[in-house]
Amino acid sequence: MTKYQIRGGNQLHGTIEISGAKNAAVAIIPAALMVDGVCRIENVPQISDVTLILKILRELGANVQTVNRTTIDIDCSHIRNRQVPYELARKIRASYYLVGALLGRFGWAEVPLPGGCYLGGRPIDQHIKGFVAMGAEVDVRNGLIYAQVPGGGRPAGGQVYLDMVSVGATINIMLCAALANGMTVIENAAKEPHIVDLANFLNSMGADIMGAGTDVIKIRGVSRLRGGSYSVIPDQIEAGTYMAAVAAAGGEVLIKNVIPKHLDCITAKLVEMGVDVEELDDAVFVRRSGPLHRVNVKTMPYPGFPTDMQPQIAAVLCTAQGTSVLTESVWENRYRYVEEFRRMGARIQVDGKVAVIEGVDRLTGAPVQACDLRAGAAMVIAGLSAQGVTEISSIEHIERGYETLVEKLAGAGADIRVLSVPDKEVQPQVG
Ligand code: UD1
Repeated sequence: MTKYQIRGGNQLHGTIEISGAKNAAVAIIPAALMVDGVCRIENVPQISDVTLILKILRELGANVQTVNRTTIDIDCSHIRNRQVPYELARKIRASYYLVGALLGRFGWAEVPLPGGCYLGGRPIDQHIKGFVAMGAEVDVRNGLIYAQVPGGGRPAGGQVYLDMVSVGATINIMLCAALANGMTVIENAAKEPHIVDLANFLNSMGADIMGAGTDVIKIRGVSRLRGGSYSVIPDQIEAGTYMAAVAAAGGEVLIKNVIPKHLDCITAKLVEMGVDVEELDDAVFVRRSGPLHRVNVKTMPYPGFPTDMQPQIAAVLCTAQGTSVLTESVWENRYRYVEEFRRMGARIQVDGKVAVIEGVDRLTGAPVQACDLRAGAAMVIAGLSAQGVTEISSIEHIERGYETLVEKLAGAGADIRVLSVPDKEVQPQVG
């Protein structure tokens, strides 16, 4: 078993380069399943969620070739197996995009219910509502999602009004609709950067999608998608995580390969806290030298403050002057990390969707456990600013979404390393 060991207190200096966006890559790779020909995908992050989704595609018969560290060729012209392997699919949230992709291309899909971080209930009723509006019959039983167009053939276009803004449902419906017979309209659609990225990918392969990035997306189904090449956008949340790390640890870092516009919601809060953020063409320069001020943060769908940055901003606010209030309005259970932060001396009270953080002068290092991807990243941030040594276990959660996190932070002066711990030293969990 491996852990991260962080000796806190070093300021960060230098440059950190951001990888391709996890949430865009895990939507674009399943979308390649709908393409008749070779898709060259560039700027693919090397993270375990990507490895998993590629493994699933290979099991379905896709030919996946690595061109270089960040570029892959995927050819799904000869898919032979349409049954998605259960044990692989249940490990990752994005496996449910295979429902939209397979249903759109073949009119039939059988996909295990997905996994992913536990953030409270993660229903898929809006995805199903979309598929049904396109003429499919959908049934969930025995841990599987069965979707089929009765009588065979492809789905029809449909009109879908989402009851809540859902990233996953918007993506899944858009995938299915790209090859449907007719026009699909998604109203109250999500507007996250990776939704626009997926639409751009599909359009570059011959799809006809308009309005991605607004709350009404219109998709005119086409008969075929052809191969081409496409580069994934930079990861908004990875960039935000390193911006938060500089805010917590202090120092000055150039964060490169970003789209500054996507970071506006994060930048605005950091500036309010007293951090300097300078936007350049494809980089942001982040500097924190003085004290951090308290702020209130409420998570919202894009362009609001991202829920996937909530634990990381909480880590920064632990040492801000004054009392900050966090309101989580996307997920019902996203404060599981608070217990771990308390081990480091944080003063946080949680009541339902609200967390009240009373800033302390210094956190203190402690052994903590990453309970999910972004909570794990937040523990890294807390460890960087803490006095003493923090050891973070269950780092497999972090490695689902951050490419070479240790190297990137160590390159900017952090004292962080991967520690191998013999399994016999791992204490059994009680209770
Ligand atoms: C995606 C992201 C995740 C992020 C979330 C919100 C990926 C792979 N994951 O997750 O990191 O935290 O967006 O930005 O891109 N809902 C329903 N019914 C549905 C679908 C969603 O009630 O059918 C609810 C959810 O319970 C949640 C809210 O809608 O409360 C938003 O969920 P959604 O945007 O769908 O999140 P994901 O796509 O799962």
